[in-house]
Amino acid sequence: MGVFSYIALVIVFLVSTLSMVAFAGTNLYQDIDITWGDGRGKIVNNGQLITLSLDRESGSGFQSKNQFLYAKIDTQIKLVPGNSAGTVTAYYLRSEGLSWDELDFEFLGNLSDEPYIVHTNVYTQGKGEREQQFYLWFDPTKDFHTYSIHWSPVHAVFYVDGKPIREFKNLEGAGVPYPKNQPMRLYSSLWNADDWATRGGLVKTDWSQAPFDASFRNFRANSCVWSNGVSSCNSNTSDNAWLSQQLDSRSQKRLKWVQKNYMIYNYCTDTKRFPQALPVECTVRTKS
Ligand SMILES: *[C@@H]1O[C@H](CO)[C@@H](O)[C@H](O)[C@H]1NC(C)=O
Ligand SMILES: *[C@@H]1O[C@H](CO)[C@@H](O)[C@H](O)[C@H]1NC(C)=O
Repeated sequence: MGVFSYIALVIVFLVSTLSMVAFAGTNLYQDIDITWGDGRGKIVNNGQLITLSLDRESGSGFQSKNQFLYAKIDTQIKLVPGNSAGTVTAYYLRSEGLSWDELDFEFLGNLSDEPYIVHTNVYTQGKGEREQQFYLWFDPTKDFHTYSIHWSPVHAVFYVDGKPIREFKNLEGAGVPYPKNQPMRLYSSLWNADDWATRGGLVKTDWSQAPFDASFRNFRANSCVWSNGVSSCNSNTSDNAWLSQQLDSRSQKRLKWVQKNYMIYNYCTDTKRFPQALPVECTVRTKS
């Protein structure tokens, strides 16, 4: 290869690397709108950090400017520390309308030194009732940890620090509706749910501890942005390989590890709740 084409190659490489770095560092002002809370939600540190706050009068929330049809969303979150009983920090993708799709993370607070619960749910065409709950293997209030939702035509996977905790497969072939037609937006909020959140509503929010604060940073959306009725990832680049990937065997092992050691509720095994028959997706046999 000639010297000039070599130099050209190096330049192309540098430019593409730099533009990737630039994207990763984007300013939250460009990606996020604070939507409610009357000043309790803030973008601070030159657009590098979002803080949400809850007091007796109100909680607060934000949403992504973009809508996505398939998305790989990663955000670092530091949850409300200390006595967070009664508080819920929600972080989810949701479409609009009456038969909406939704992929939900909800972090249920607790008394000091008692464990948070990570509550997850999947709605398709307006129907949920697919809860799975987990404890975490670390204290989510001491540091930022990465919480991800990777939603592709193949599956929707919930990750904590890169470990899959839940996979909802596309089982349309077996008659289970799968979210694939409605673009979703990312939402997050901090609110009071002491009627149900902590030990099923037994432990109430201690307002003498207010305000309660949670922080978010390094929001990344390597996603298919929805614009004018089209999703932008319909091209064939290697960046889009995740759109057709299954969990590899390492991820499947990790998923099993989390589910064996940290899962505390699974609707798929709740025969009291579904006495006639468990939901179809719970009993379908798949290859993996
Ligand atoms: C709070 O702590 C209690 C006692 O350890 C535990 O049973 C419960 O699952 C914890 N989490 C929530 C959100 O209630
Ligand atoms: C992407 O590439 C594969 C293999 O080269 C091809 O079969 C497929 O039709 C392409 N998809 C699109 C949307 O162009």
